[in-house]
Amino acid sequence: MTLVFRNRNPLPALFSEEAASRLARLSPRPERSFDAQPSASFAPDDRELLDGRLGVSEVPPELPEEVFTEYVFPIAGQGTIAFTITPRGPFRIILSGDKTPSSTDPVLVLDVGEKQTCFRKRNDQKPDSIIEATTAKDALLRRDVALTYWFSLDTQNRTLRFGLGEMLPALCVFEARLPPRAAGQEIDPYAYIAKIRHVALSGTPVPVPSDDFLWPVPVTVGLPGLVVPTDRITLDDIAANRCTTIANLDQASQVLYGTVAGAGITLDTADFPEFSAAIDRSIMTPGLWCFEKLKSKAEEFGGKPDPLKTYLRITIGPNQGDSPGSPYVLEIWPGGHYSPIHNHGKASAIIKVLHGQIWVELYPQLSPQVLDYYVEAAFQQGDVTFLSPRFYQVHKLINRNPPGRMTATIQCYRYPEDDTRHYEYFDYLDGNNAVQHFQPDSDSEFAAFKSLMRKEWAAR
Ligand SMILES: [Fe+2]
Repeated sequence: MTLVFRNRNPLPALFSEEAASRLARLSPRPERSFDAQPSASFAPDDRELLDGRLGVSEVPPELPEEVFTEYVFPIAGQGTIAFTITPRGPFRIILSGDKTPSSTDPVLVLDVGEKQTCFRKRNDQKPDSIIEATTAKDALLRRDVALTYWFSLDTQNRTLRFGLGEMLPALCVFEARLPPRAAGQEIDPYAYIAKIRHVALSGTPVPVPSDDFLWPVPVTVGLPGLVVPTDRITLDDIAANRCTTIANLDQASQVLYGTVAGAGITLDTADFPEFSAAIDRSIMTPGLWCFEKLKSKAEEFGGKPDPLKTYLRITIGPNQGDSPGSPYVLEIWPGGHYSPIHNHGKASAIIKVLHGQIWVELYPQLSPQVLDYYVEAAFQQGDVTFLSPRFYQVHKLINRNPPGRMTATIQCYRYPEDDTRHYEYFDYLDGNNAVQHFQPDSDSEFAAFKSLMRKEWAAR
């Protein structure tokens, strides 16, 4: 596997997704996670009264209303919270030690603005509460655009991170390292962050998330995309964060990996060693099945017809009710062909390259406003990669080889055990970059396809 990052600096090392997933289930996951109890100390009328009487309000002017969510970090002092928000104006994510109004208490604030974004140590407007600020374009608020904003607290490493999209270090857009306790300083001014657990939102108006998620660990390192057998991973691999093993993935992925990762799952087998050659010939020859089927799919993903935005889906068995479409799909990628940018219905997936190479562009999230990938990985024959509901869910697959050199992959899908929705679609961006639903379908069943390729090969 080779990786090419786009203007990003991934951080090294590993964490166990399985372990983190178990921890996540310990925390409540409410359908709608707001108490809707503003914590401002004064009703608006009271504030006006006080302003008039005292001349200068003790309540900081324009302090946004603060609304506590029901999210609680299961381990105090660490965790990541993500909200998918369409902001109408500047907003804040506030992390605090308890659910009381935070205007005077030490807290941690991610203050996302249109001209400046900053981390604050108090939920006020004062310059001296700012820990660190940035005017970098990537870290600024994008009004009226739905994006996933995450805020990671890492007490162990005294690090705050803000990212957009999936909870990955490669998608961090702004980070602050809290200064160490100064020599001779008796009290650590940031000792309070070890007790932080509660999450609030504020803004004018208070943003209403369309999706939200709590992760029990901070964003420190990303899980590598390459999955290797347990007896192949080395200390050097772990040190360089080059690959992982199936033990680090969720149970759904383990089931899929156990089925297809073995040496017997190949395209060319003793009973038909020319299978891959027969497929390439069928793709390249007018009148043969692959050529004609691909031609008929040029308009499949909307917009103007694009003969290169096509691939073949050869299903292996029916939809069994635990995956979007068939759980096992042989995908055929002619040289130069690609998919649209798409997600996977929050399913887990294992992808194994059976023939050729596949290039995977990863995107922070599925959005008409997010059209730049952040990393591209190339996988070779025999390589196994994965995606999960929270990581690497949005991608575009490409066979960058020339015509006549097809790639074959086996894609395996399964909903995690805690998925009670079973969203049956892969959403994708069409030719006009609008989000559309793709119902996973079948161009042929595997046995029929293999039999047809044999016949075409024999008749050459
Ligand atoms: Fe995909």
